Amino acid sequence: MLRAGELVAFATETVYGLGADATNVAAIRRIYKVKRRPAGNPLIVHVRDRRQAEEYATGFGDVARILARRFWPGPLTMVVGRGRKIPAEVSAGMPTMAVRCPSHRAAQRLLAAFGEPIAAPSANLSGHVSPTTAADVLAELGGRIPLILDGGACAVGVESTVIDLTVDPPVVLRPGIVTVEMIRAALRRKLGTKAEAIQTSSVSGNAAAKSPGMLRRHYAPVTPTYRYGQGEWHLVRAWLNRYRPQAWVVRLTCDDARPARGQEVLIHLSEHGEQYARHLYKNLRIADSHGYDLILIEMPPDRGDVWTAIRDRIRRASREWPP
Ligand code: TXA
Ligand code: MG
Repeated sequence: MLRAGELVAFATETVYGLGADATNVAAIRRIYKVKRRPAGNPLIVHVRDRRQAEEYATGFGDVARILARRFWPGPLTMVVGRGRKIPAEVSAGMPTMAVRCPSHRAAQRLLAAFGEPIAAPSANLSGHVSPTTAADVLAELGGRIPLILDGGACAVGVESTVIDLTVDPPVVLRPGIVTVEMIRAALRRKLGTKAEAIQTSSVSGNAAAKSPGMLRRHYAPVTPTYRYGQGEWHLVRAWLNRYRPQAWVVRLTCDDARPARGQEVLIHLSEHGEQYARHLYKNLRIADSHGYDLILIEMPPDRGDVWTAIRDRIRRASREWPP
């Protein structure tokens, strides 16, 4: 199917991808159409290994090689130069290209069997929550794509870290479970103190233009979704009692929460960052599926690590309380 220019959804360790032959312009256009993705938002090219990345990219230099050796296969995407075999449509016309080698066994086997790189955004409609199971993909894209390869539930649960290596110093465009601290540590020997200058770009800054997937609101449920600060639930509840006494709400928290009352459903999330991340999108989907009036997410504190990525995704999925 990939050889025929069709789209195939497949599991990666982060989220499910909607794959197409990265060298086939018609197939790439089909991805944008099926996802209703804005033409300006570039795709990630998945490769089987570092050698294939070097073959299809340009400017895959020492820094990229060090990061690939340390984090591939795995949830790190690097923006480098786009080679001639990858059509401009993959990168929304930009001369760069995002490349990643996934570690999920099914993705690896698909890449090995196909032989060419596979362009794949997350397998959801543009702006929605990314899918972490085959059933999620079916719910999002059923009837619009011919094949979903079920590789089970994704272990990571949030999208890969994206780092732009075409600028000096490199900039993390999207935080993930490969943290900026881990990247700095990997590059310290090569870059010395310059490694400390690697930062995560702010959501509101130029990153929006540079990496359109960084748009502030993204990865969002359909139900109106708000975030509130830790320990502020009583304020939210008081506001609801006063202004929206009829509202049915779903509340996501990892706090030691009191049992839910009428018209309120509680989803209790793990205090372990990796587990929280693994189940975040699944829980957002569950919260979204019941047609309640509001989803309310307690913002977990910034404890570094994977919490940076979690807080980033919650910010994109929600608006700040109060409405
Ligand atoms: O974990 C993941 O990365 C998943 C799985 C399927 O690999 N893929 C994924 O793709 O999240 P997508 O399309 O949903 O997000 C790709 C992100 C977007 O924020 C996009 O703007 C950015 O990568 N990106 C892609 N190419 C880029 C480029 N040339 N320069 C800057 N940002 C780029
Ligand atoms: Mg996406």
